[in-house]
Amino acid sequence: MDSKKIYSYFVLVFTFFAFTIISSDAYVQGHKKAPGRRRTPANGLNCDMFHGSWVYDDSYPLYNSSTCPFIDPEFDCKKYGRPDELYLKYRWKPNACELPRFNGQDFLMRWRGKKIMFVGDSLSLNQWQSLNCMLHAAVPNSKTSTSRTGSLATVRFEEYGLSVMYYRTTYLVDIVGEPIGRVLKLDSIDSGSSTWLGVDMLIFNTWHWWTHTGNGQPWDFVESEGQVYKDMDRLVAFSKGLTTWAKWVEANVDPSTTKVFFQGISPTHYLAKDWGEPKAGNCNKQTQPVIGSTYPAGSPPEQAVVSNVIGTMSRPAYLLDITLLSQLRKDGHPSTYSGDHPGVDCSHWCLAGVPDTWNQILYAALL
Ligand SMILES: *[C@@H]1O[C@H](CO)[C@@H](O)[C@H](O)[C@H]1NC(C)=O
Repeated sequence: MDSKKIYSYFVLVFTFFAFTIISSDAYVQGHKKAPGRRRTPANGLNCDMFHGSWVYDDSYPLYNSSTCPFIDPEFDCKKYGRPDELYLKYRWKPNACELPRFNGQDFLMRWRGKKIMFVGDSLSLNQWQSLNCMLHAAVPNSKTSTSRTGSLATVRFEEYGLSVMYYRTTYLVDIVGEPIGRVLKLDSIDSGSSTWLGVDMLIFNTWHWWTHTGNGQPWDFVESEGQVYKDMDRLVAFSKGLTTWAKWVEANVDPSTTKVFFQGISPTHYLAKDWGEPKAGNCNKQTQPVIGSTYPAGSPPEQAVVSNVIGTMSRPAYLLDITLLSQLRKDGHPSTYSGDHPGVDCSHWCLAGVPDTWNQILYAALL
């Protein structure tokens, strides 16, 4: 072989190997990407949307609360005199990617003719009203109608045939009046569940009521596996109740037609020592988020219960793991600007505000 031939031979061999390497890489990536894509599709990236920090953004909030017709007084902080505005100006920035900006018209088009239902306590109410405001802000002149029957409230975006609903239930599982008193039934989920069938997207939530005691506790006994108890460790009870919900989803929801989300644990800010500022007392007069990506008090045990139970599902509900990002928002609560409610509310969230970000993540998860 002369040197020219040797040269062409090497070019040929090199080209062959290069092609093999590139195509095998594509093969591996294709296989890696497919499952990742379904779980965290923010901008098509395999992105963890739940770790990050809050950054100032002058283009926020996403809507003007005074022009949203769907906000209850308890979340309408500006209307009830909240003087500061900085809390409206933060955008959630995941470490690994940018959250796509919420596009209400796109959301309405994708979900036209469908039913979306938030199921849970007043934190679900909070997120439901936030989504309605975000959609309304995108099409302010488009006709909406509202209705309420029993535990179910609906906002219908008429031109899109989209119903955004809220089903109020505090525990998801049943409370039944019996001769001995009101019994919280950890194994039974009959009272609301027939209403949840046939909905195209379900976003569940329960936790806050599991901690209630005394006059705020709406049951007298708790029943599990045929045994009746006066009380039970609340995390254990929560885990059992949530497991009943998970089994209901597995048995009744067809994942090819219905998207199932769990809202995750919305944190409260009644103990300022949780964010390392014990003298502050609680969320009252807080005007800025915790800086950075970590919350001094760490993750609450109820959050672990939620991930454990969802982890047992054969087709897990998508966990909107909003705990950390909301923990950082000690400034986001209505505090004393909560309609006519007495006291300081460090549990719900002002609108506009933190639940808008939960809905931005919901939107990103659906892209
Ligand atoms: C919100 O709307 C009200 C009423 O139209 C207006 O007075 C106010 O300036 C608006 N706020 C902002 C921040 O745009």
